[in-house]
Amino acid sequence: MNLPAKYPPISPKTPFFLHGGDYNPDQWMPEVYPGVWEEDMRLMKLAGCNEASVGIFSWASIEPEEGRFEFGWLDKIMDMLAKNGAFAVLATPSGARPAWMSQKYPEVLRVEGNRQRNLHGKRHNHCFSSPVYREKVRIINTKLAERYKDHPALIVWHVSNEYNGDCHCDYCQKAFRGWLRKRYGNDIEKLNQAWWTGFWAHRFNDFDQVESPSPIGEDLLHGHNLDWKRFVTDQTIDFFRAEIEPLKRITPKVPVTTNLMGVFEGLDYWKLAKELDVVSWDHYPPYQDQEDMWKFAIGASFQHDLNRSFKDGQPFMQMEMTPSMTNWMPVSKLKRPGTLLTEAMQSVAHGADTIQYFQWRKSRGSSEKFHGAVVDHSGHENTRVFREVAEVGAVLKKLSPVIGTTVRPEVGIIFDWENRWAIEDSKGPRNEGREYVGTVLDHYRPFWVQGVPVDVLSEDSDFSRYKLVIAPMLYMVRAGVGERLEKFVAEGGVLVTTYLSGVVNETDLCYLGGFPGPLRKVMGVWAEEIDAPFKEQRVKVESAPGNDAGLNGTYEGRSLVDLLHAEGAKVLATFGSEFYAGRPAVTVNSFGKGRAYYVASRHDAKFHGDFFGHLIKQMGLKRVLETTLPEGVTAQVRGDGKREYVFLLNFKRTAAKVDLGGRKYKDMISGQEVGGVVELGGYGNRVLERTV
Ligand code: GAL
Repeated sequence: MNLPAKYPPISPKTPFFLHGGDYNPDQWMPEVYPGVWEEDMRLMKLAGCNEASVGIFSWASIEPEEGRFEFGWLDKIMDMLAKNGAFAVLATPSGARPAWMSQKYPEVLRVEGNRQRNLHGKRHNHCFSSPVYREKVRIINTKLAERYKDHPALIVWHVSNEYNGDCHCDYCQKAFRGWLRKRYGNDIEKLNQAWWTGFWAHRFNDFDQVESPSPIGEDLLHGHNLDWKRFVTDQTIDFFRAEIEPLKRITPKVPVTTNLMGVFEGLDYWKLAKELDVVSWDHYPPYQDQEDMWKFAIGASFQHDLNRSFKDGQPFMQMEMTPSMTNWMPVSKLKRPGTLLTEAMQSVAHGADTIQYFQWRKSRGSSEKFHGAVVDHSGHENTRVFREVAEVGAVLKKLSPVIGTTVRPEVGIIFDWENRWAIEDSKGPRNEGREYVGTVLDHYRPFWVQGVPVDVLSEDSDFSRYKLVIAPMLYMVRAGVGERLEKFVAEGGVLVTTYLSGVVNETDLCYLGGFPGPLRKVMGVWAEEIDAPFKEQRVKVESAPGNDAGLNGTYEGRSLVDLLHAEGAKVLATFGSEFYAGRPAVTVNSFGKGRAYYVASRHDAKFHGDFFGHLIKQMGLKRVLETTLPEGVTAQVRGDGKREYVFLLNFKRTAAKVDLGGRKYKDMISGQEVGGVVELGGYGNRVLERTV
């Protein structure tokens, strides 16, 4: 697969898998719960755990009163970890703050869009512009870095926790206006043009008139909403940079991360992830033994690929997952036996170099007392969950050679946050069921089903490394992107895009002169109108006889339908019903050395299976295994150019067989040589090594 040499391990101290998770010893202080910490160390060893993420919400324990710091308990924990051969992913505590701070400095409290200031409570509710909050964070982060800079247990900084949300206080308004001034070169006319403020007398005379979007004020200028979201990402990054300044200064060699949340909508992770030394993310797939659980596994794999793609293939940390159940899904059904190991192997298969849980010891009170944990309220190791975690630990020990390996897919799929924001904020052509995320997953699915590795891209990614780039619903095409996609195709790439593409520019102004705007030339089509059939309506799609796109018979289009004119593109299928019967439904345009496909309506899995299945074959895209995988099973690979590690993952409750063909493999867990047909148990997995 043309794999690069290995990435270095996350820390030179740990050239093996980290296995552990969120640990809150300050909920179990020895004065009240004597012996618990010692017991934790004993149990960690038993569970094959070598890592603890400490201090995540510990501000009140570290600084119980303003300026009075109590590091004694943390010193002890850090020492105990080191003594037991374990490592600390040490957190900055800014994800939640002590009550004294909110009481004395109300400016640290977040203000909502309705301009109401929150009361103290919960977590993740600080103002990211407040000078007081930034100063308090700077002080405590400096103290943490100075105190533990040489501690043998310290390996990674876990900065805050799951950054999210925005604040609309006066500090943030001022920062937003400053951000806009910069973006529009201090020229309010540029902003007026970009936001189309001629509409409803929304013109501004001055930047000082601009406020953040609000349900009690302005929230219908799409360019404004988009810029606010961009600002929130940038201001979060600005806060992050302020947070890590002392860490980088005092401990320049210790990598920093903050835990991301998959496809979380609120922050442009393409930007935030670039700031991290190592990407980490929290993953809670709904693996609850549903009949079609394997379909959720597709979304999970996509998010793993996304996290690996953020830093161009660099392995990531699985910072959180639950050993058994969550407490926040509508129903907290237990994972069935064996699921945990396959879930962990799925993370590893796509690039995780750690397996960490939320949480180590189940808390006794408060809202997470029923959330799954390695150590339950019973307090001992004789539980099913503990045994399953210990099994993961034992397996990970055998997988050290996998550390630092990666994959170089030939296929890239665009998942772009700004595009998503624009689609989700648009009024029409349909206001329900726009499904950008779901549509991207529909396009990812055929590759998962066939075991073809995929990278996830933004509009700003370098496309030249891929053979096939898929850009579902590329509604917003930012300046230069059309040209870059044109170049990609002209040089021999294959591009697939769909309905609702090339509609607006980066400030959400529609392209004039015909859609798909900057993609019109490379696609060879003009989309004159877009129809939005009712939810249950289907539009017939008829394959052109002898088409060379794997399309066979009829399909059903739905949701969004572009009414196309072919302008040089060849028609591969046409609509067979509605007043637009006979109009192109799927087209291909030869352009330079490559070609570009336009799919004019939304389709189901059958269409995607036929269409992409054919492309995989026709383009000779490399599959992990040249075999048909059973339903619910995927094959993923990591390697270093010499050795490859093939992960077979079964997300169905029934056993499945996979044909490895004539090639010989080593089973990484049993150490035995295998070949021919191998069996995977229900929710089972195999990790197999082969030479390239
Ligand atoms: C995460 C969070 C953890 C814990 C977990 C529960 O989002 O970072 O602190 O609350 O959810 O699933």
